[in-house]
Amino acid sequence: MSEFFPYRDGELYAEDSTVAGIAEAVGTPFYLYSAGALTARYRTFAEAFAPAGGALVCYAVKANSNLAVLRLLARLGAGADVVSDGELRRALAAGIPPQRIIFSGVGKTRDELAAALDAGIHQINVESLPELHLLSELAAARGQMARIAIRVNPDVDALTHAKISTGKKENKFGIDIDEAPAAYRLASGLPGIEPVGLAVHIGSQTGGGLGPFREAFRRLAELIVALRQSGLAVRRVDLGGGLGIRYHAETPPALQEYARLGQQIFGPLDVEIACEPGRVLVGPAGLLISRVIYVKDGASKRFVILDAAMNDLIRPALYDAYHDIVPVRLPGAGAILSRADVVGPVCETGDTFATDRDLPPLADGDLVALTCAGAYGAVMSSTYNTRPLVPEILVSGARFDVIRPRPSFADMLKLDTVPDWLMEPNATPSGRGAA
Ligand code: LLP
Repeated sequence: MSEFFPYRDGELYAEDSTVAGIAEAVGTPFYLYSAGALTARYRTFAEAFAPAGGALVCYAVKANSNLAVLRLLARLGAGADVVSDGELRRALAAGIPPQRIIFSGVGKTRDELAAALDAGIHQINVESLPELHLLSELAAARGQMARIAIRVNPDVDALTHAKISTGKKENKFGIDIDEAPAAYRLASGLPGIEPVGLAVHIGSQTGGGLGPFREAFRRLAELIVALRQSGLAVRRVDLGGGLGIRYHAETPPALQEYARLGQQIFGPLDVEIACEPGRVLVGPAGLLISRVIYVKDGASKRFVILDAAMNDLIRPALYDAYHDIVPVRLPGAGAILSRADVVGPVCETGDTFATDRDLPPLADGDLVALTCAGAYGAVMSSTYNTRPLVPEILVSGARFDVIRPRPSFADMLKLDTVPDWLMEPNATPSGRGAA
C-alpha cells in the first residue's frame, strides 16, 4: 500500500509487524502510526527547505498531539505550532524547546498568553487588536518583550472545504491585510511588544496546487516591502500550514515545489522562514484499524458495519472527507468488488465512512484499515455513545508500543460525579421547593 504499510504475501504490515497481529494484541478499533513514515515525512519536509537556507518547521500539534509522536518529531529537530495552553504543555513535555514554539489562534485567553510569556516561546502570532493590547499589558507588567508576528488575513481562497478555509476576509482569522500595516505600526509602539514579522495560514488541505499559496505569499511579500519602506523592521515570515495530501484523487504540490515557491518569493527579502505543517507530516503515517461487525443487506443497499465510528474518526461526517478503506488481508486473485456503504455503530446516519464504495469481499470479523488517518483522527475523537477513546499504537520496525491505552469503562464512568443529594433515596436539592 505504501512503503511503511506494505502488503507481504497478501497481509498488511505496519513496518515489520502484521496489522492482524497488533489487532490481536490490542483489540479493535485502534490508530496505528509508523515511526518510519513520520521520520521520513519530517525529513523530506525539512530538507525541501534546505536550499532555501532552511526553515523553522513548527509542527502543527493539533494534527496529532500524542506525546510519543511529538517526542519523535522533537528528536528530529521539529518545533511546534500550538493553539492552546494544553498543546503548549504537550510540546514542552515532549522536549520541544520553547525557542522553537509558535503560539497561534484567534482566541488566546489571558492565561494562555501568560503561559506563553512564562515559557519564553519563539513567537506569538497575534490575530486581533484586542489581543495585541492584552499581550502588551501582560508583557509590560512582567518586564518582558513579547516577540509577535501579525497574522494577516490575505483574502485568498484556499479552494478547500468551507469548514477549513481560513484565509478569506469573511473568515474569523487574522487581521485584514488592509489593516495590517496600521496594526504593525501600533505594535511597534506598544510597551512589551516587539513585532518581528508576519504570519499567514490560508486553510488546510488546500486545492489549486500552489496557486493559493503563491497568491497569499505574494501579498505578504508586498506587505513586508511596504512596512520596511515605512521604516518598520520585518525579519520573520511564517507561511502557516495547509499543504494537502492524497486521500483519493487529489494531486497536492510536491514539497520541493512548495519550498521553492517560498524561497522565490521571500528569498530576495532576506527574512527567516517558519512554517506550520500538520497534516502533510502525519496524515499518511497513520491508519485506523477496525473490524467488521456485520455485513447487512438492506432493502436498497449493502452495509458494512465496522466497530469504529464517527466518534473515532469524524472527518467523513464533518467534512464529507474521503478515506480509503482497504482489507488487512487481500482477497485471492479474481475476487469481485461489490458496492457497499461503510458505516459505524453510532445511532446517526452521519456515522458513515463511505457511501457506495466498491470493496473487495468482506465478512464479519474481517479487519480493514482506513488510510491517511494520522492527522485529525485521534485528536478529534470523542466518547459519544460512551464509546471509549480508541488506543494509539506506534510501530517501529518489528516492535509496537501502545502510546495511548484504551480506557476502561470504570475510567470513563469515574469522570462524572453525582451530587450527594441525588444519592439519597427520594431526596431533592435543598432550597429548591422540596415538599
Ligand atoms: N497553522 C494554523 C494556524 C492552523 O490553523 C492549522 C490548521 C495549521 C497550521 C496546520 O494545517 P495543516 O498543515 O494540517 O493543513 N480538522 C480539519 C483540519 C483543520 C485544520 C485547522 N488548522 C481536517 O480534519 O481536515
